[in-house]
Amino acid sequence: MVHSRRTFIKTATVAGAATLFDVGRLSAASFVRPDVATVKKHDLDAYSKAIKAMQALPNTNPLSWAYQAAIHGTTLSGSQPGWNTCQHGTPYFWSWHRMYLYWFERIVRKMSGDKKFALPYWNYESPSERQLPAPFRDMASPLYTANRGAGWNTGAASLSASAVDTSGFMPLVPYFNAQSGCEGTPHAAVHVSIGGWMGSVPTAAQDPIFYLHHANIDRLWNLWLKQGGMRSDPINDAAWRTTKFLFFDENGAQVWMTGCDILRAEDQLNYTYENEGAQVNQYCLKPLPWWIYEVKLWPVRFPPIKLPPGPDPAPYEIDLGQQRDQLLSAVRNATTQVTLDLSGVEADKQPNIFWEIYLGLPKGAAAAPNSPQFVGTMALFGHGIHDAHQHGGFKPAAFSFPINRAVQAALTREKGNALSLRFVPRGAVVTNQRTVVRSEATLTIGSAQLATRQLKAQ
Ligand code: C2O
Repeated sequence: MVHSRRTFIKTATVAGAATLFDVGRLSAASFVRPDVATVKKHDLDAYSKAIKAMQALPNTNPLSWAYQAAIHGTTLSGSQPGWNTCQHGTPYFWSWHRMYLYWFERIVRKMSGDKKFALPYWNYESPSERQLPAPFRDMASPLYTANRGAGWNTGAASLSASAVDTSGFMPLVPYFNAQSGCEGTPHAAVHVSIGGWMGSVPTAAQDPIFYLHHANIDRLWNLWLKQGGMRSDPINDAAWRTTKFLFFDENGAQVWMTGCDILRAEDQLNYTYENEGAQVNQYCLKPLPWWIYEVKLWPVRFPPIKLPPGPDPAPYEIDLGQQRDQLLSAVRNATTQVTLDLSGVEADKQPNIFWEIYLGLPKGAAAAPNSPQFVGTMALFGHGIHDAHQHGGFKPAAFSFPINRAVQAALTREKGNALSLRFVPRGAVVTNQRTVVRSEATLTIGSAQLATRQLKAQ
């Protein structure tokens, strides 16, 4: 039986009958954030120089390295304006981090004395860029920190293909779904894979690689939007548009920003990314036609799951019951997005690994992310962990994985009403090290449901 509930989510696009968006000018911006692999060493010297200068300032100076990192999160006691304000698991994940990087980059530009400085991005989706970029491994450089997981500073560690996979969130159309998908993979999976300071919110922004990781997450926002097909920033959401966040400019003066200030990176913030092409421009103030998503929720029989510490837990089963055939026709419909939503996800401490998730993997089949049964990864960062001092208090994590492909492959192949659900612990890929990947914590998943989103113009 399909329990159905209709939710109407209005998503805005700019006015205009034929075109949904303005497409921006090509590279009129003054600053082009480069792929770190194409950056010559002397360009990273400007970043190094700024880090050194920032580290020499007292913690109470907004231009200091410690203060800037503390805006994201800190274990320092005391409180200064703007500290501990990063946004995870909220509507502001992409927008807050865009604002944060923008002011950080201006401060680095000033502190380095290099007026042309633009923050590089770490393009780890490219298989040749899965190791920590070499200049960050040089012990003599300010780009280095010993606070990283095993193998990262020797070059032995690299990111797994599943940790940097963007195919999970890119197809998602509603903004908040896509944002939360990207916050999970690659964002959280990369944090957890690197570990050390990067593995926890209150310390992450002390590692100089943090800002290159986030430049890439910011670039992925642009690339997601650029796919079109009814994708839009949430400019019809009043809270998203108007909530103000505090930062500091390069002179140490307070600045407040809202979502409307950062919609158009090139037009409003004067930067683009190398190789990104023209950006999509959206405007808060234009009249908005509405799009509608019809959301149907499909409850599934799913006991709360506990993934014990250790390697490879046994597979679980999702019982589809009478919904099997309806689900199969839903996943076959090209305009319907079907997701597996896991909520109430929590652990007592950082598991220090992430899980690859496979739906409908046949018994005995190898769990490889190039399998059609791979649906994404689950990593905890910023919420869902009880012992991390999270500002704003504890909140369980939630994940949503697109499953059209996996369900179609499994139900076409098998006759039954059950889908196996398998969680495979993974970490960084470390060469010459044959260790079993183990979770260090028990993970609880409170509930699961399947959801379908049908997109239609009103
Ligand atoms: Cu606010 Cu990648 O973290």
